[in-house]
Amino acid sequence: MFKTLRWKSMLAGALALLVLLVAIALTVVLTGAYNVAATDRHETPVAWALETTRIKSVEGQAGGIDAPALTPTMVTAGAGEYKTMCEHCHGGVGKDAASWSAGMAPNAPPLAEVAEEWSPEEVFWMVKHGLKMTGMPAFGPTHDDATMWNITAFVKALPQMSAQEYAAYPAVHGPPGEGGHSHAPGTPAHHD
Ligand code: HEC
Repeated sequence: MFKTLRWKSMLAGALALLVLLVAIALTVVLTGAYNVAATDRHETPVAWALETTRIKSVEGQAGGIDAPALTPTMVTAGAGEYKTMCEHCHGGVGKDAASWSAGMAPNAPPLAEVAEEWSPEEVFWMVKHGLKMTGMPAFGPTHDDATMWNITAFVKALPQMSAQEYAAYPAVHGPPGEGGHSHAPGTPAHHD
């Protein structure tokens, strides 16, 4: 009898706590209490939760992908795409990102420094699908897999690349943001 009472009051307490949490969440959502300004950084626990969610999700989602061998020809083919579609946010080697990208939250990290932390499959997956709530676009809807593997090859080559080598790769000429033409795997970028 005593035992049942204790269970009942514990259950009631848990329910009350749940209702309270839902009420707090709804208050935050509906009153505009949370500042969504990019100039206002997330609180540490929120930032931690978002970043960890992102990393674990990418690791999980990329698990089923098998990367082809990344060749120097693919690196060359991906260079123009990278310079046209990624450099203004992520910078290059000896080449800063566009100044406006400093206003992004989260910031687009310099891939020359962080590319080693990601496997080719993970880079490919992020390029193809983008990253929700970060400003990292999905290129899958507009580019074929072969082109995105070339971009992946170029990204993975960045950490070992010198500024001179980076500068020597030609940029693709084409409408801004379109990344020029699509390439079959390993076909060289257009030198026009
Ligand atoms: C409009 C700006 C923008 C463009 C263009 C862009 N990115 Fe991103 N990218 C981001 C942002 C923002 C993040 C998220 C950073 C974070 O999660 O902290 C990101 C994350 C990434 C990451 C994960 C890096 C990390 O350590 O978090 C990779 C890899 C990446 N982008 C590759 C690319 C490639 C390759 C291209 C071009 C095909 C590209 N991005 C184009 C903004 C951009």
